[in-house]
Amino acid sequence: MRILLTGCDGQVGCEICRKAPDYGFDVIPTDIGNLDITDIDAIRRLQDEHQAEIFINSAAYTAVDEAESDQQLAHEINALGAQNLATVARECNLPILHISTDYIFSGKASTPYKDDSEPDPQGVYGQTKLAGEQLVAETNSKHLTLRTSWVFGIDGQNFVKTMLRLGIENEEINVVADQFGSPTFAGHIATALLQLTKRYQQNGDLPWGNYNFCDAGTTTWHMFATKITQMGLEYGLLTKLPVVHPIRTEDYPTPATRPLYSVMDCSLFHQTFPDIGISSWESGLREMIGVLAGEGK
Ligand SMILES: NC(=O)c1ccc[n+]([C@@H]2O[C@H](COP(=O)([O-])OP(=O)(O)OC[C@H]3O[C@@H](n4cnc5c(N)ncnc54)[C@H](OP(=O)(O)O)[C@@H]3O)[C@@H](O)[C@H]2O)c1
Repeated sequence: MRILLTGCDGQVGCEICRKAPDYGFDVIPTDIGNLDITDIDAIRRLQDEHQAEIFINSAAYTAVDEAESDQQLAHEINALGAQNLATVARECNLPILHISTDYIFSGKASTPYKDDSEPDPQGVYGQTKLAGEQLVAETNSKHLTLRTSWVFGIDGQNFVKTMLRLGIENEEINVVADQFGSPTFAGHIATALLQLTKRYQQNGDLPWGNYNFCDAGTTTWHMFATKITQMGLEYGLLTKLPVVHPIRTEDYPTPATRPLYSVMDCSLFHQTFPDIGISSWESGLREMIGVLAGEGK
């Protein structure tokens, strides 16, 4: 199975590249340097050359705060770029696996968002990602989109690495304690996408649509940071445990509004794909910190 992968240098893309050989898949790895997804002709040329059998889009404009002042580029990448990939896949009668986000929801709920809950993004990033998942769905009936949240991984910059760095530099850290969500390990998203690819390879079909997909467990950024520093100490990445103080969202202003509650109900995904196991964010965190400790990072 030959996969055209976009965003191969990102958190999820790196994990797909790392794990794909275990499935016997051949990945055509692309990122902005060799394939800009806003250029549909470049996608066509690349596909002509490589004849992929499925597209996986892990490319995105993910700078949530910067997007507020960079709306045009965020829209071009997250909405039109995703549509370009869906279009070229459709022209070749191929499926596309895509990734979306909890930011498509308002964050004002108090019970988990279901797959068919009404989207109501509060910022530019969420608006452009919602447009992307809608355009992918309208363009290519063979689409499967995983909506995920609070992604952290071994590669790239993310909250886990920031907390480890702050834990080295400071005795005390302030972290927001009134936003609830589910951290999700990039390696678990990659595994799900590769398992979906395998099922498509076996059956020539998939139950297409949009699915909420995140790691098991709900927490706050403050509790997440506390766990990160504890594991960091356990694995020798930190030499002392910093005090992690809880603060309120209003005490940490950001250009983009953060969802206060972005917990998603992922039961549809797990009922539809019972063979794809449920993993906890803690297990992903342990895997990531174990790798960082092993690499001496
Ligand atoms: N990170 C999160 O917390 C989070 C949460 C929920 C959902 N998601 C979604 O999960 C998916 C993967 O996220 P991630 O965290 O792995 O993202 P990431 O680490 O930011 O990786 C995205 C990759 O896409 C590349 N890219 C940007 N513009 C491009 C373009 N025009 N053409 C081709 N490649 C381009 C980026 O390159 P540059 O770095 O050079 O820009 C980067 O290598 C995305 O769809 C994202 O929206 C992420």
